[in-house]
Amino acid sequence: MIESKIIIPIWIVFNRLTLPYNYSYTLMNVLILGGGGREHAFAIKIQESTLCNNLHVAPGNAGTAQIAKNHSIDILDFEAVKALVNSESIDILLVGPEAPLVEGICDYFKSELPELLVIGPSKAGAQLEGSKAYAKEFMAEFDIPTAAYVEININNIEDGYRYIEENAGPYVLKADGLAAGKGVLIISDGQEAKDSLKKMLNGQFGAASKKVVIEEFLDGVEFSVFVLTDGQYYSLLPIAKDYKRIGEGDKGPNTGGMGAVSPVPFVDDELISEVKKKIIIPTISGLQKRNINYQGFIFFGLIKVNDEPYVIEYNCRMGDPETEVVLPRLQSDLIELFEALRDQKLYEISISKKEEFATTVVMVSGGYPGSYNKGYPITGIEQVTESMVYQAGTIKSDDGGIITNGGRVLAVTSFGKDIQESVNKSLYSIDRIDFEQKNYRKDIGFDL
Ligand code: AMP
Ligand code: GLY
Repeated sequence: MIESKIIIPIWIVFNRLTLPYNYSYTLMNVLILGGGGREHAFAIKIQESTLCNNLHVAPGNAGTAQIAKNHSIDILDFEAVKALVNSESIDILLVGPEAPLVEGICDYFKSELPELLVIGPSKAGAQLEGSKAYAKEFMAEFDIPTAAYVEININNIEDGYRYIEENAGPYVLKADGLAAGKGVLIISDGQEAKDSLKKMLNGQFGAASKKVVIEEFLDGVEFSVFVLTDGQYYSLLPIAKDYKRIGEGDKGPNTGGMGAVSPVPFVDDELISEVKKKIIIPTISGLQKRNINYQGFIFFGLIKVNDEPYVIEYNCRMGDPETEVVLPRLQSDLIELFEALRDQKLYEISISKKEEFATTVVMVSGGYPGSYNKGYPITGIEQVTESMVYQAGTIKSDDGGIITNGGRVLAVTSFGKDIQESVNKSLYSIDRIDFEQKNYRKDIGFDL
């Protein structure tokens, strides 16, 4: 008799009792696209889910290789992604970086494999990040607070010059298209701004700067807000702040991000409710009014000016390194969230999060964001006990070790009762880790 009894694993019983929403309990095969710290953090979070069956990452890195199967394909080659989805019976495709989204990967799979759950917006939705001019025009239409601006191309360059002459600096010049985080110039001097405008329109950032947005400079403090939306409802994820400059005290050139903290002390309930009312809700309803299909993350790059939030930029995906502090604080199950997104039932889920502070400190290659070397052995990760080490620019070496393979190499995240304690733990862990020419900021969170 005992043989024929169906034994229900205890975690299923447990989840049944605690879940707010009636899930299918089908185990999911997940493919994550991307290969940075963000994707390693996603991989760890998804692998922890009791609803995850097999986990794949393309192309991934040495960190994701430890917990998932890596596939070295070009993620902009949608046919290759489709072949992988088919051969590994993928149920959920999570798109990490913006490029495949802006190129229309969601629309591609909607027509090729409609059953596949793709986490990411349609090509039209990704325009919020893919074109700054589009984003500005969208915000103007839906009364979403943002800096005043003019849109300039080579044919109306005189209007750009006039704007610069008639307005006081600093001038914010933004390449319209994707420029790997380098397309924004902030210039104090008027003549220099005019010269830069001309250079940009003449192809400084290739096709991305054929159009340029010149924006009013906003003086305030920045923070990042992330939501997961099913196109109708949204879940608010933990708030974060990133540190983009290479040097301590926020000096020197911009990078992909040198560190991040979550939560952000100055972002109180009042500010969050302003952000919801003036920014998040009008954005989602604006997308609906334009009939734009958006099922994925929206990253609102915000700035607080005199207690009011303004949008600096939209991104159509999670941030990096913000993800390395947002996901560790998120206690909700990501696959449950994705299933609720699929069923347009995000309103049924309440997000639970750790109240502790998380700080991530990014270890970069010497020379980054300029030129740097790759291929240096990384040692000591296994000695870290106080922190989570998310790998970014890493690859397995032939002898089974890990070597550097990019500008941003590792993101070291720790918890603490305050920012200072969490950053100190990350710095302690970083002392255990070594690679030639390692560089990092010791002052993440210094301004909070
Ligand atoms: P973005 O790529 O649009 O996020 O811009 C990069 C960085 O430039 C932002 O994180 C801000 O620090 C700065 N920035 C962009 N737009 C403005 C603005 N209108 N006023 C002040 N700073 C800005
Ligand atoms: N941390 C900023 C970004 O991901 O673009």
